[in-house]
Parts: sequence; C-alpha cells; structure tokens
Amino acid sequence: MLSSTSDVERGFGVEALRLILRYAHLIGFALLLGAAVMQYLSGKVRINPAMVWGAVIQVVTGVALSAPLRGGGDDEPSPVKLGVKLLVAVLIFIMVFVPRKRDVVNSGHFLAIIGMTLLNAAIATFWR
Ligand code: HEM
Repeated sequence: MLSSTSDVERGFGVEALRLILRYAHLIGFALLLGAAVMQYLSGKVRINPAMVWGAVIQVVTGVALSAPLRGGGDDEPSPVKLGVKLLVAVLIFIMVFVPRKRDVVNSGHFLAIIGMTLLNAAIATFWR
C-alpha cells in the first residue's frame, strides 16, 4: 500500500525503471533476431557481433526484469517461466559466444539459435 509521498515517488521510479528495462529488452531481442535472420539470408552462415550483443543484452536485461518490479504481488511473472527463459537465453549466449570467431558455423546450429530466440519470445508472450 502507498502510504506517503516518498512511497508514491518510489512507485513511479520503479515503474519507470521497469519500462526502461523492457525497452532495452525489446531492443536486445530486435538485435539478436534481426542480425541472425539477416546473416542467414546473406548466405554466409557465421555469428556476427550484433548477435553477440543481442544475446548479452537479453540475459542482462532479462535478469534485471526478474526483480520484483511490479509491487511483489500476483502481477509478478512466474518463477518457473523466468527460469526456463534464463536457461534458454544462457544456451543462446553460449551458442553465439563460443563460435563467434569462426568463419562459418553449422547451419543447424545457426537455425537453433534463431529457433530458441523465437521460443523465448513465445514464452514471454503466451506463458501467462
Ligand atoms: C533470447 C532471450 C530472450 C528473448 C527473445 C526475450 C523476449 C521477450 C519479449 C518479446 C518480451 C515481451 C516484452 C513485452 O511484452 O513488452 C519479454 C519480456 C520479459 N522477459 Fe524476456 N526474453 C529473453 C530473455 C529473458 C530472460 C533471460 C529473462 C529472465 C530470466 C527474461 C525475463 C523477462 C521478463 C520478466 C519480461 C516481462 C517484462 C515486463 O513486461 O515487465 N527474458 N521477453
């Protein structure tokens, strides 16, 4: 319950922080997916720096968004959902980071990165 002006101000501040983190999370998603799809369509199947940045941004902003930023009540996302997303995102990070200097990677490996990115976006959207 908001009981004083400072509580109200803290509430607005936390909500602003959540929105900024969500904005950064969506930019990370755009980078990771956009860079991966463009790279695949270019015909040269390798990891590019925008994919690595996107994968890092997703883990960092995702973990930050998992803090109780919605007042700690029933609005908070399920911890199981967050755990699954974290697992998938860490796997994506490892899969882009380890072979990032290789001239070419296996196209199955590359498509799995795209698939897992789409999977995490689907979990974010449909797992309520
Ligand atoms: C490749 C990795 C990831 C992708 C593609 C992804 C994608 C998304 C998308 C599309 C949204 C919806 C944003 C909206 O509805 O405005 C979202 C929200 C969210 N994601 Fe992720 N995510 C990823 C990783 C993570 C990780 C690792 C975590 C935490 C463990 C996480 C936690 C969250 C949370 C808490 C929200 C809700 C934000 C809010 O509305 O308050 N995400 N994610």
